[in-house]
Amino acid sequence: SRSINLAVIPGDGIGQEVVAEGLKVLSAVLPQETKLETKEFDFGAKRYHATGQTLTDEDLAELKGYDAILLGAIGDPSVPSGVLERGFLLKLRFAFDHHVNLRPSTLFPGVDSPLAGQPEIDFVVVREGTEGPYTGNGGTIRTGTPQEVATEVSLNTAYGIERVVRDAYARAQARPRKKLTLVHKNNVLVHAGRLWTRIFEQVGAEYPDVTTDYLHVDAATIFLVTQPERFDVIVTDNLFGDIITDLAAAVSGGIGVAASGNINPSREFPSMFEPVHGSAPDIAGQSKADPTATVLSVALLLRHLGYEAEADRIDAAVRADLAGRAGQPARSTVEIGDALAARVSG
Ligand code: IPM
Ligand code: MN
Repeated sequence: SRSINLAVIPGDGIGQEVVAEGLKVLSAVLPQETKLETKEFDFGAKRYHATGQTLTDEDLAELKGYDAILLGAIGDPSVPSGVLERGFLLKLRFAFDHHVNLRPSTLFPGVDSPLAGQPEIDFVVVREGTEGPYTGNGGTIRTGTPQEVATEVSLNTAYGIERVVRDAYARAQARPRKKLTLVHKNNVLVHAGRLWTRIFEQVGAEYPDVTTDYLHVDAATIFLVTQPERFDVIVTDNLFGDIITDLAAAVSGGIGVAASGNINPSREFPSMFEPVHGSAPDIAGQSKADPTATVLSVALLLRHLGYEAEADRIDAAVRADLAGRAGQPARSTVEIGDALAARVSG
C-alpha cells in the first residue's frame, strides 16, 4: 500500500485556515489503505520574530525527506518587505530546484470573470522558477550618491531553459489542443530572447504534433484579456511568468481559485504546492478566506505524486461546488472545506 509523507507549512494569516481545509479534503479523498503522515512546520512571521530565522540549512535538510510540501501563505506587515519572500519562499524554490512553476488558469462555470461574455479559459502557464532576474545577480555602485547605478542581471542557461521548455512541450502534448506558446520579449531582450527562441524551436522538432506560437510579453497581456481562448500551454521566464500569472488569475475567477505547484519533476527534492494568494492579514482569523485555491493545489500535489484519480475527484468537486454558488449566501472557510470534503468522499 502507498503512503504520503507530507510537510505542512500553514504560515501566516489565512494560510492557517486554508491549509486546514486543504488537509481535510486530502484526507477525505485518499483511499483507506493510503497512509497519510503529516508534520507541521512553523515557518513564517512568528518564527522570524522569535528567532530571526526564515529557513535554515537544517530546516532544508529536514524538509528534503518529505514526499511533498503544502504551503498556505507566508508574509505579514510586521516583517519588512522582501525578508520572507527572499529568505523563505525563493530560498526554498531555489534550494529544491523547483524549476517548473506550474500555474493553471481555468474559468470554472459559475465563476465570474471581469471579461465580457464569459470567455472560455483553460490554459496552464509553465513559469521557469529558478533563473531569470530572480537570482539576485547584480548590484549597485556609487551607492547612495546621485550617480548611483543599479543592475539586475537576468540569468538564462541553456540547461535551465531546455528542461522547462521540454516539460512544457510534454504538458502540451498531453492536452487535447496540443498548443504551446512561448512568451518572451525577444525583440528587445535579444541575448536571452534568442537563446529561449532557439531552444524552443529545437525542442519543438521532437514534438511535431504540438502546435507552437510566439508572443511578446506585452502582446500576451492583451490577448490574455481579449482572447484568452487562444492559450493552451504557455512557457515563459521567471519574471514574465510572475506577472502574467497574476493577470491570468484575475481574469479566470481571481486569486481565490488560483493554484500553483513549484515542481521538481525529477523528484530529487520535494515539490511544493501553494495557493497563488498571500496571507491576507486583513481577513485573517475570520473564516472568510476561500480555501478553494489551496484545495486545487492539493489536487496538483496528488497529480505530481501519481494519484491521478484522486486529483480528478478534487477537480470535479471544486467544479461542482463553484457551479452551485450563484445566488447562495457566502460560506465560511470551514463550510466550503466541509462541502468539498463531503463531495470527494461520496
Ligand atoms: C509569487 C510571488 C513571489 C514571486 C514573491 C512573493 C517572491 O509573487 O509566487 O508569484 O515573485 O515569485
Ligand atoms: Mn507573483
